[in-house]
Amino acid sequence: MEFPFDINQLFSERVSILDQTLVAGRKSAGRPDLQEQIATVIDGLGKASAKAQQLPAPITSASKLQSQRHQIYLLKDGEHSGGRGVAVGFLKVGYKKLFLLDRQGAHIEAEPLCVLDFYIAENLQRHGYGLELFDFMLQHKNLEPVLMAYDRPSPKFLSFLAKHYCLTQSVPQVNNFVVFEGFFHNKTAAQ
Ligand code: ACO
Repeated sequence: MEFPFDINQLFSERVSILDQTLVAGRKSAGRPDLQEQIATVIDGLGKASAKAQQLPAPITSASKLQSQRHQIYLLKDGEHSGGRGVAVGFLKVGYKKLFLLDRQGAHIEAEPLCVLDFYIAENLQRHGYGLELFDFMLQHKNLEPVLMAYDRPSPKFLSFLAKHYCLTQSVPQVNNFVVFEGFFHNKTAAQ
């Protein structure tokens, strides 16, 4: 996704980690003008993600990020757009307290890291960018994908998880979260 400003100036790293502060590295700290541009990028990608998933409204925006304890991993490609770079996509994660059912139907209370939103720009999908972003997050969190929960995963995302991480056997839940076989290892039933 292209923007009318220099993505490379805004995001110095290939993957930037954004939180409530809307700061991407030292450059944007104390620079409201750059933070405004970062907000424009988040809002643009959030809207495109909602459209791709046919959601009535975006679940990711700069103002939501400022009020929630979530993190966004934002991937850029610095080579595109005459050297100004493009925003390729984002992955939003956060911890959620969930009541889940294990394979035996026992209630388990857990607070896993959840994938809350995930989007790669339409024209760049199926080029391995999603995998690059997801792997970056897993390394950063030092986590295995089977230990995460997935909020209303789309058919494309389910296919992605099956292809790259062999996550195919989900354990039925009564909420919108999906967890896979292996999630409950080492977890005991709630009282
Ligand atoms: N149809 C079916 N499967 C797809 C598609 C598609 N159009 N696009 C990607 N995939 C899956 C497939 O398993 C594909 O492998 P294949 O080409 O061999 O079939 C695999 O992803 C490709 O891997 P990457 O290239 O690394 O993935 P990509 O860069 O496309 O990112 C993502 C995956 C984020 C799901 C992207 O396709 C996308 O943005 N989709 C639209 C938005 C969306 O559905 N996001 C998930 C929301 S649910 C949530 O966030 C909890």
